[in-house]
Amino acid sequence: MSPTVRDVRARTAATLAAAGVPSPTVDADALLCAVLDWRGSELATRADAALPAPATERLGELVDRRAAREPLQLVLGTTGFRHVDLMVGPGVFVPRPETEILAGEAIARTPEGGVVVEPCTGTGAVAIAVATEARPGEVHATDREAAAVDLARHNARRCGAAVSVARGDLLDPLPLRLCGSVDVLVANPPYVAEGETGQLPPEVAGWDPRSALVAGPTGHEVSDRLLALAGEWLTPGGWVLLEVAEHRAAQTAARAERIGLVEADVVRDLAGRDRVVLARRSGPARVASGA
Ligand SMILES: C[S@@+](CC[C@H](N)C(=O)[O-])C[C@H]1O[C@@H](n2cnc3c(N)ncnc32)[C@H](O)[C@@H]1O
Repeated sequence: MSPTVRDVRARTAATLAAAGVPSPTVDADALLCAVLDWRGSELATRADAALPAPATERLGELVDRRAAREPLQLVLGTTGFRHVDLMVGPGVFVPRPETEILAGEAIARTPEGGVVVEPCTGTGAVAIAVATEARPGEVHATDREAAAVDLARHNARRCGAAVSVARGDLLDPLPLRLCGSVDVLVANPPYVAEGETGQLPPEVAGWDPRSALVAGPTGHEVSDRLLALAGEWLTPGGWVLLEVAEHRAAQTAARAERIGLVEADVVRDLAGRDRVVLARRSGPARVASGA
């Protein structure tokens, strides 16, 4: 006799808990919904249904991957980010919920018809959120990894987002005509210091590419370069917004002011951790379209 959804749900959560997965019940439900093509609420209302054999087999494969601490999003192949559903894939950094704060701050500062640039785009999550939630004139994203560029282009097409994605180092691939006229420079760059990689959880250390995580010996290397680029590429009044390591946020804000940016500030995430540093080039700010 086929096991019921209720039994399989409990067994799956127990398997994931034994593997040390931090949220075994949530993840078990997500995997079951994926193989059954159900909404979460159906797991309760249809708990006595029998799990068909093909779904049981498929679930077994997915549970093995999650128990090996592959991130849930990679196992499922997609993740939600603000209002959009994005494809994720091996070799490309999986967008995190806390980065939705960064995107929200960028959206709130994007003027109608303005120019937004997002170096270090990964799946394109932030650029796509800005393009679909604000009313920018142009959104340009870059990444130096080919896999990220391909995935970001795919996601932008899928979401109907007008984002141009180019491969290269930070702002190098962008048209020079944009230099001095960028309204918002937003990035979640690599910000882990070399000596900190041992503290990363298995889902991060084993699956996110090192080039997406590690900035260099101090962790400030890429954000320092981005602050310097902000000084050159922003229009007067334009904003730079960077996701940062919690314990380097205050230093990053001080570094922004040291190179001449103004109104440097730190925004906390929902867990109360310092998460985003923002600053602007002096001059009158344009009215935002996405607030
Ligand atoms: C922490 S991930 C963030 C990805 C995405 N913005 C997000 O929040 O989900 C950093 C990304 O920066 C890219 N990257 C690292 N160094 C870069 C550089 N010098 N120029 C462009 N992209 C870079 C990595 O390939 C990776 O996709």
